[in-house]
Amino acid sequence: MKVSELQKKIIELKKEKDVCIIAHSYQSQDILEVADYTGDSYKLSIDASKARNKTILMCGVRFMAETCKILSPEKTVYLAQPTAGCSMADQMDRQLISQVKKMYPDYAVVAYINTTAELKTICDVCVTSSSAVKIVNNMDAQNILFIPDCNLGAYVAKQCPDKNIKLLNGGCPIHACVNTDDVKKARAMYPGAELLVHPECLPEVVETADYVGSTSGIMNYAINSDKKDFIIGTEISIAEHLQYMCPDKNFYILSQKLICSNMKATTLMDVYNCLAGRGGEEIVLDNATINDARKCIDEMIRLGG
Ligand code: 13P
Ligand code: SF4
Repeated sequence: MKVSELQKKIIELKKEKDVCIIAHSYQSQDILEVADYTGDSYKLSIDASKARNKTILMCGVRFMAETCKILSPEKTVYLAQPTAGCSMADQMDRQLISQVKKMYPDYAVVAYINTTAELKTICDVCVTSSSAVKIVNNMDAQNILFIPDCNLGAYVAKQCPDKNIKLLNGGCPIHACVNTDDVKKARAMYPGAELLVHPECLPEVVETADYVGSTSGIMNYAINSDKKDFIIGTEISIAEHLQYMCPDKNFYILSQKLICSNMKATTLMDVYNCLAGRGGEEIVLDNATINDARKCIDEMIRLGG
């Protein structure tokens, strides 16, 4: 079947079944084209909570689908591809952080949204890459335990010098693969191009960037800039999407290592199969988990809105 035919069937099915398709910007172009909402983690969590449909189909990774369920427990939420986890979210669990909390009883726990619903239940506030600096600055607490991403945490600590921020040794293995040699090579290959990076990259890489921001931040910066050439330091799909959106500009990939297999796991056929009732996974969370995890997501919306 042609991609366009499959897309047509998906659009018919989602209308018939009252399903809202939500896709993270790292998804492939054919999926983004059938989605009702696209964007970074923060935008998606807000969009999902405002959607009026009875069912949400998340094309992204598991923690994103869990966040939708926490914000809209009355809705049926599906993850289009059940194997799509997040290597960072899987690094720290509730048991580990409960132990760490005992070591730092007077620290507020700030959890990157890339965490499991279960872990969120014992955290004070959630952040996303686009809202972390603002939220940490707006918090009353001085002592902050930032989990799980030590690279995003280091970036936040630099932007919030008045806060005492403790980091643990977690992070995104994909973004953390890029090093300063990759930056040197890309700068030499594309002289004059601006380097835009995600704060999940190593601090020494972030330091060399012309712009640091979330997925949407990077996209908006490049779209609105007068410059023509950009090196993109996040998952390679963003450079591809930007090239498609801005054909008069040039987008180069910082490193071929920037490929997230989890984000690449979902296919257009998965979306179709899930809508047709023979694929995907319904996200099921118990009420206690939803209620406790919701507190830290509500704090994110209150302090970051
Ligand atoms: P954003 O918050 O920028 O969407 O990032 C999510 C993510 O998983 C990046 O690797
Ligand atoms: Fe998780 Fe990293 Fe993939 Fe983002 S790029 S979904 S943080 S593994």
